[in-house]
Amino acid sequence: MDKVIDESIQGNSLELQNKKENKRKLYIESYGCAMNFSDSEIVASILTKEGFNTTQNLEEADLVLVNTCSIREKAELTVRKRLEKFNSVKKHRPHMKVGVLGCMAERLKSQLLEEEKIVDMVVGPDAYKDLPNLIKEVDAGRDAVNVVLSKEETYGDIAPIRLQTNGVSALVSITRGCDNMCTFCVVPFTRGRERSRDPQSILEEVNDLAQKGYKEITLLGQNVDSYLWYGGGLKKDFEKASDMQKATAVDFSQLLASVAESQPKMRIRFSTSNPQDMTLDVIHTMAKYDNICNHIHLPVQSGSDRILKKMNRLHTIAEYHTLIDSIRKIIPNCAISQDIISGFPTETEEDHQDTLTTLKYVKYNFGYMYLYSERPGTMAERKLEDDVPHEIKQKRLAEIIALQRTHCALRTKEHVGHTEEVLIEGSSKKSDAHWMGRNQQNTVVVFPKENYKIGEFVNVKIEDCTSATLLGNATGYSTN
Ligand code: SAH
Ligand code: F3S
Repeated sequence: MDKVIDESIQGNSLELQNKKENKRKLYIESYGCAMNFSDSEIVASILTKEGFNTTQNLEEADLVLVNTCSIREKAELTVRKRLEKFNSVKKHRPHMKVGVLGCMAERLKSQLLEEEKIVDMVVGPDAYKDLPNLIKEVDAGRDAVNVVLSKEETYGDIAPIRLQTNGVSALVSITRGCDNMCTFCVVPFTRGRERSRDPQSILEEVNDLAQKGYKEITLLGQNVDSYLWYGGGLKKDFEKASDMQKATAVDFSQLLASVAESQPKMRIRFSTSNPQDMTLDVIHTMAKYDNICNHIHLPVQSGSDRILKKMNRLHTIAEYHTLIDSIRKIIPNCAISQDIISGFPTETEEDHQDTLTTLKYVKYNFGYMYLYSERPGTMAERKLEDDVPHEIKQKRLAEIIALQRTHCALRTKEHVGHTEEVLIEGSSKKSDAHWMGRNQQNTVVVFPKENYKIGEFVNVKIEDCTSATLLGNATGYSTN
């Protein structure tokens, strides 16, 4: 299952459990990464307390919010197209207000108000708690902007309202922002400095999800492996504040272990890992707890040392391969997936061949592959010319995708003949008589429904497969 993620098809409107006393209608659409979808749940939680109910019908909205992505130019163009659509609705609903949230809001700030006349409100990713005030401004007929980035805000104290949920899987954010400064990436500018959320509030959210019947959580961060919480402990027990911080710090591996231990019946996933920050501790923790899923998303971006250096990725390709070897040794059946960028400035045919070599070395289970898109304000935009012709970027991307496709088929086939634990997520898209779920490695499994239900863990004997989907029959409940 090679997935070329395209934000233009990721947009999604959301509806939540509505309150009778709420009178105004909110229509909220999200684009881009999982963090944006998770943030929209925080926004929904804030706005239900402000008298809003959600609707999936744009035509009846009083407030339209679009949570945006800036990662590639195409993602921004998609949002601009949506704003045109909102404009046409506004013609017969003049009181309808439109707000832009997320990375585009942060990147373009009040410039958006000038460029897009339809927009009344611009709110950056760290300013959602200010939404009640901003909406008051907009109600009074004034434009409202808050794009202040914070060094502390983690929204740890807000219980997200689960939108668009299947009641089985939920997203839990653990860090915000990123300090890595990969030269192609706009995220450090739009989401600000990296900060980690209090582990206690993470555990409370996970326990609450378990109580509500959720069976799987994904711990989210731009760079989860750099999770680090300093805190806790009593000062009087330590000579210096720094001693206390060291003694009571929680890193990602420890967080992962305590989440896995606190809910042994829940599946735990996490995303995303930057290879330069991933430690062997994390891999050992994954091996130790059966409920941490055997899948690591480990973006490589390029197989060329020269390009990795220009991207400010702080590892060599040999180090990356060694990390892959360690994962395979410690967790032999671990699925590994990638992100790759084709056509970064100065990329030569030789660099591209190095990327294909890494693909062949790892034989990833899945991949997300992109054309390089120059982003204003990034180091790459300022210092390097976007000099790989579009046709060459495309030709290389096509080769990368074609090779990934063969590896995907190969990896899918490896499951045939095995009996694997599957968490049921819903009906198969193609057949109402079949369930769809995933195994630990995140591969989709389809099997006859019989008497099983959504949210149950079932053992499935895998009998056949397509290139990306496993087909089988349930043999009973999983007792793990
Ligand atoms: N650490 C993040 C990465 C965010 S961006 C995470 O948690 O997912 C996701 C992917 O988008 C990156 O791994 C990279 O492959 C791709 N990407 C980022 N900036 C890009 C750009 N300017 N052009 C093309 N692809 C880009
Ligand atoms: Fe972007 Fe690199 Fe951080 S890809 S999100 S700057 S790890």
